[in-house]
Amino acid sequence: MNKMKVNLDRKIGASYEIHIGEKILDRMGLILVKNNWAERYIIVTDTHIDALHGERVETALKKTGLRVDRITVPPGEAAKEMRTVLTVVEKLIALGADRSTALIALGGGVIGDLTGFTASIFMRGIPVIQVPTTLLSQVDSSIGGKTGVDTDAGKNLLGTFHQPKEVFIDLSFLQTLPEEQFRSGLAEVIKYGIIEAPDLLDTIEAAAAAGGLRESAFIEKIVTTACWIKKGIVELDERDQGLRRILNFGHTVGHAVEAASAYSLSHGEAVAIGMVAAAIFSEQLHYLPADDRRRIVSVIRAVGLPDRIPGNLDLGEIGSRIARDKKKRGETVHFVLLKRLGVPIVNGGIPEKMIKITLEGLHT
Ligand SMILES: NC(=O)c1ccc[n+]([C@@H]2O[C@H](COP(=O)([O-])OP(=O)(O)OC[C@H]3O[C@@H](n4cnc5c(N)ncnc54)[C@H](O)[C@@H]3O)[C@@H](O)[C@H]2O)c1
Repeated sequence: MNKMKVNLDRKIGASYEIHIGEKILDRMGLILVKNNWAERYIIVTDTHIDALHGERVETALKKTGLRVDRITVPPGEAAKEMRTVLTVVEKLIALGADRSTALIALGGGVIGDLTGFTASIFMRGIPVIQVPTTLLSQVDSSIGGKTGVDTDAGKNLLGTFHQPKEVFIDLSFLQTLPEEQFRSGLAEVIKYGIIEAPDLLDTIEAAAAAGGLRESAFIEKIVTTACWIKKGIVELDERDQGLRRILNFGHTVGHAVEAASAYSLSHGEAVAIGMVAAAIFSEQLHYLPADDRRRIVSVIRAVGLPDRIPGNLDLGEIGSRIARDKKKRGETVHFVLLKRLGVPIVNGGIPEKMIKITLEGLHT
């Protein structure tokens, strides 16, 4: 099992450890016993993950003598909202939870965000342990303490910063993860390679060529590298006031494409297209070498993610969503661009005409 520490403000003891390995549930129980974060633990998961893994996780933790209960919510983004938070709170109260209780978020980014948010406000804040089960949550959302729920007006409009006490990344959960979800997570891993670790792109391309994208050694390598990069960025910018923005590489166009597809494209597919657009902007505005842009496209293709905007999507809608985003932030939409692979920069604005021409060029 690998271990790395996220070093945050020591005064409030916010630092925590990320544990990464195969089949680490037994050790997770022992570590929780040793660290004694709470008198009892309540697992929050969705019904889908619960059917696959819930009982196994609960049993493994109980074996170490911990007091453990389990609460389920419906799966999917639609459940990431206030009504679900209130339902979870009611269930917590019915179970007799109090300030000596800790929550365990067992699931993907939806469960991580929802459970983190609930833990941050329940009785003015109780500890949360993150146990991510999707590739996206293992490499991204379980680390960094951002929590949130959606409202009718948009995604993640209500949220808090609530760092977990510990993150346990058991890679064996990924064995049950559907291909599409896995590939969606790979888009975020490719993003880390592009902004911070170009070698990672070689590793991904080699694994794709050998048909080994789901092999344990490869997964362990990419998850460990991605966590290392994410933790480094979070340490420097815990509250998302500067550097953390580079994690949005590919996301400005990506979010617009995702919404314009009415979410028929996965987040990862949309981000892949957004990363290609960002590479083209970078080539035109900041002289990103054409070879670097081609490299980005080739790794995206190698893992089976799209590098073009599907022909059935309306470019006008994508453009106006990007423009709306821009307006919302006072004309300074922060596009994350590249000087070269591994060197991101935050750019204050891209001419509308360039956006239009680039989107047209990417439309199939
Ligand atoms: N807090 C952050 O920093 C941060 C960062 C990125 C994304 N997010 C959030 O993460 C969410 C997306 O997360 P996600 O992509 O993990 O999606 P998700 O949590 O909706 O999970 C996707 C689906 O996979 C299923 N699933 C989860 N683990 C499984 C497993 N091991 N085997 C089989 N099925 C499994 C779930 O039941 C669900 O149906 C979004 O709400 C996004 O806003 C948060």
